[in-house]
Amino acid sequence: MANSPKFIIDGLKASVEGKEILKGLNLTIQGGEIHAIMGPNGTGKSTLASTLMGHPKYEVTAGSVTLDGEDVLEMAVDVRARAGLFLAMQYPSEISGVTNSDFLRSAINAKRGEGNEISLIKFIRQMEKKMKELDMAAEFAHRYLNEGFSGGEKKRNEILQMMLLEPRICILDEIDSGLDIDALRIVAEGVNSLKSEDRGFLIITHYQRLLDYITPDFVHIMMQGRIVKSGGAELAEQVEKDGYDWIKDELGIVDETVGLGV
Ligand SMILES: Nc1ncnc2c1ncn2[C@@H]1O[C@H](COP(=O)(O)OP(=O)(O)O)[C@@H](O)[C@H]1O
Ligand SMILES: [Mg+2]
Repeated sequence: MANSPKFIIDGLKASVEGKEILKGLNLTIQGGEIHAIMGPNGTGKSTLASTLMGHPKYEVTAGSVTLDGEDVLEMAVDVRARAGLFLAMQYPSEISGVTNSDFLRSAINAKRGEGNEISLIKFIRQMEKKMKELDMAAEFAHRYLNEGFSGGEKKRNEILQMMLLEPRICILDEIDSGLDIDALRIVAEGVNSLKSEDRGFLIITHYQRLLDYITPDFVHIMMQGRIVKSGGAELAEQVEKDGYDWIKDELGIVDETVGLGV
């Protein structure tokens, strides 16, 4: 229990280019818990992920985010990563000239801090082990980061980073998009292998199918830049079966997007 994280999002509002996207979002994630956020497109899910990680384009205008009582919003992005936040991105960037293994080792060492770097042998052993688990060919260690990777290979690579960095709060933004069923299963196994009391998950997904492989403890529906409904795994099954319209009807929501209009 000693290292079990407590991540609290309270009344979070955020804007991009002067437009408010997140409109007061509350969520608490504790170690050992898997939370899924589902919602139609354009409801602010990726904005939430970017805002939590500290993307400079997203301006927080109200609310707080804390990890074990520490103010996350005050932290620079690298400090957030060192504190144990991790984001597997919906659209990972390609970085030419930086090999995947150099990137991974730098990221691990940045997290471990000066004087406590991982030995090269130990790093390679760990990386190769995790790559095998993710069914990634050895060549991916030496290729430039995400360059020419297929959609599924990029997603596996995000999970590889997560497995090596061992974050405390893992945010996965549509990790299932673009994955065929075998890749989906492998990615889900990677996530499941990391489930522990020392770690909490926020899994953002548009479709229920990922949740056939990763059982969430809590499911939240996002509309209009906030969480409008929460439940257990059965809520995801209901969405799979009946879509989102019944939730909109129940809550009297006409347009579920953040309603930026034009
Ligand atoms: N960087 C950005 N610049 C301009 N608009 C943005 C940006 N990021 C998000 N938005 C807008 O915020 C709204 C919510 O987008 P997003 O968070 O990506 O939703 P979701 O991930 O739920 O599909 C959309 O209308 C989108 O166009
Ligand atoms: Mg998105």
